Amino acid sequence: MSEGLEQQVRAALRGVRDPVSGQDVVSAGMVDGLTVKAGMVQFALQVPRERARESEPLRAAAERAASGVPGVLSATVVLTAHRAEPPPAAPSRKAPPGGTPGQGQMLLPDVAAIVAVASGKGGVGKSTTAVNLAVALALQGLKVGLLDADIYGPSLPQMLGTRERPRTEGQRIIPLSRWGLKAMSIGFLVEEETPMIWRGPMVMGALEQLMGQVEWGTLDIMIVDMPPGTGDAQLTMSQRVPLAGAVIVSTPQDVALLDARRGVKMFERVGVKVLGLIENMAFFCCPNCGHQTDIFGHGGAKAEAARLGVEFLGELPLKLAIRELADAGTPIVAARPETPEAQAYQAIATRLREKLAENAAAAGGPKIVIA
Ligand SMILES: Nc1ncnc2c1ncn2[C@@H]1O[C@H](COP(=O)(O)OP(=O)(O)O)[C@@H](O)[C@H]1O
Ligand SMILES: [Mg+2]
Repeated sequence: MSEGLEQQVRAALRGVRDPVSGQDVVSAGMVDGLTVKAGMVQFALQVPRERARESEPLRAAAERAASGVPGVLSATVVLTAHRAEPPPAAPSRKAPPGGTPGQGQMLLPDVAAIVAVASGKGGVGKSTTAVNLAVALALQGLKVGLLDADIYGPSLPQMLGTRERPRTEGQRIIPLSRWGLKAMSIGFLVEEETPMIWRGPMVMGALEQLMGQVEWGTLDIMIVDMPPGTGDAQLTMSQRVPLAGAVIVSTPQDVALLDARRGVKMFERVGVKVLGLIENMAFFCCPNCGHQTDIFGHGGAKAEAARLGVEFLGELPLKLAIRELADAGTPIVAARPETPEAQAYQAIATRLREKLAENAAAAGGPKIVIA
């Protein structure tokens, strides 16, 4: 039945004409990844990168056409611009006023420091760490942005405890305000159940929109919660924003499995500085008696950091309260600031600021607001 609906949506899209080629968007091959599930339609409209900025009316027309098909409950269309060529060696930092900057311009020019929180694999606590660090930095008085770069598996709606829809002003998306910071995630923009059958280039397009089309304003620091692994999102981030560096999260177990090393190497390969390593779930802290147990052999990350020549930024225990509060949308740093765990996040946040200031000074660099 949804197959029939898909055909009807395609038929409706044949009525939407691309003003440049003169063809309808289906014949022009611009419709990509069309999925229909429980009356919800989702697809991407592919445009050449140089047309990305003026294609919003076309996107809106395609969305209207899909929404108008009887049986369609909602339609979400995203614009994706394909990367035609590798970026020039020294892209300019300043974006043109208004709209998403084109290829060759760095996104987020008004953010003093952009820090990617990454790991070699999933489930190590990247999102938990990113959210708590971001809240810690906001509590320290910085203007903080938190970007969920995980397009397939966004975590921020749950971890920040909100599914509010962001407001828009014209083509600009206003980030949500939560725990003193500005936050954006694809999870705020599309339905939770929507299948995300998005291929590599589409992930890049969505991620670029989250950076370029969102009204982040001037920020002292942006924390980016990266998807697991070493794929397209990592490449997009390293090419399209001036990353101050990456923080690698690892558990004692992936230190043993060399996953942490993979994460570090990946950023080094694309010329991004690794600011340090955080060991998460470093030891088990019993909720009943407070006894500490080293389940996987504690301290490996510190030794591994030394071997790799990167700084060890700190460690967090495996603690039920960290997970429960994260799941409840109330990060432990905000909800239980007096706990040793919240203080550990605060200490890592402080060290991160110092590290950024040191690096900026060493680079003869500008505008990082620290101390
Ligand atoms: N230090 C910790 N103690 C207890 N649970 C944790 C800790 N860090 C993360 N978790 C839990 O582990 C799971 C995976 O964490 P998450 O941050 O989503 O990982 P990732 O983003 O790397 O996939 C979540 O349920 C989270 O609440
Ligand atoms: Mg995550």
